[in-house]
Amino acid sequence: MLVEELKRRKLPDVLTFLDGSKVSSDRWSERRQELLRILAEEEYGELYEPPKSIDFEIVETEENYCAGKVVLNKIMLTVELDSGSYSFPFYAAIPKAVRPCPAFVHINFFEPYPNKYMPVEEVCDNGFAVFSFCYKDVTSDEDDFAHGLAGVMYQGRERTPTSPGKISIWAWAAMRIMDYIQTLECVDLKNVAVVGHSRLGKTALVAGAFDERFAFAISNNSGCSGAAISRDKQGEDIRVIATIRPYWFCPNYQKYIDNEHSMPFDQHFLIAAIAPRKVYVSSAVEDVWADPYSEYLACVAASPAFELSGEKGFVHPDRFPEVGEKLHEGWVGYHLREGTHYFSRYDWQQFMDFIKKHKNM
Ligand code: GCU
Repeated sequence: MLVEELKRRKLPDVLTFLDGSKVSSDRWSERRQELLRILAEEEYGELYEPPKSIDFEIVETEENYCAGKVVLNKIMLTVELDSGSYSFPFYAAIPKAVRPCPAFVHINFFEPYPNKYMPVEEVCDNGFAVFSFCYKDVTSDEDDFAHGLAGVMYQGRERTPTSPGKISIWAWAAMRIMDYIQTLECVDLKNVAVVGHSRLGKTALVAGAFDERFAFAISNNSGCSGAAISRDKQGEDIRVIATIRPYWFCPNYQKYIDNEHSMPFDQHFLIAAIAPRKVYVSSAVEDVWADPYSEYLACVAASPAFELSGEKGFVHPDRFPEVGEKLHEGWVGYHLREGTHYFSRYDWQQFMDFIKKHKNM
């Protein structure tokens, strides 16, 4: 059944190079570079180069957060680019009981800490650290490339067809949090996940695709231009997203308004570019704007990239999922939650279960 659905959507094959040749396992890294180039040039824009230097200053500490179980630090991160410097704060909550601990980099909608999308105590009680920044502290969620980190990167220059959109800039910021994590002995560097919800779920997939230091990339309800296949998608489509939020993407993405079938890619390329690391996509059944079925289909279509290394990719039945179904067997994880568009505790629990099951040794 799903094979027919994939055929109907006429997706480009994840294991065929642009020149038509087939991708073998020894050429996966070459194909991954090709996927990243397509995604950068056509959709999200080129990621800015890493900073010349980076600095971290702990500005507040709470030694006995969460009844003494957690150390909480507020840290000011400063990047030095050729074009200037920029600072933004993030928070690090590290449990005392488990060291070294796996960790999440949570690209967050909100401050302060914790908040409705981030049950810090519960995450730390499960033995995970959580590093979190508010995306608007990096650069505004507006069509404005003159302020914030975007202003430093752009220096007043006009946007070109492949200039980074805001999603790429937020993803770049998540990579800088990863730079900080690399300096910590208390974190298990083999098991760091990047996670986000909705527009920030799109961002988490981009960060995970481009930065191989993330062992897991997790997108919650990310929908259009995130985990969901764009061809024949229900709910939001490229016309809507690229009209209302053109600045999330590079200007080239405008070419695909009402023209999804001409794209040399679809969103399964973004998921596949995370292989051979692990990825998780979660949907909510009432989130029809995001389109759970198109999110699920992207996992199906990306699976061959994960199977290439001899691992189980997306282990799923030959039908669309049922509400409450969790698919955690392979390296592509998925669940369909009841309810609406939201980053719930249930979602966090599934992500933690998946990471515990597929932890890198
Ligand atoms: C809007 C937008 C979505 C996005 C969501 C969010 O609904 O259309 O693409 O995912 O906002 O980030 O909350």
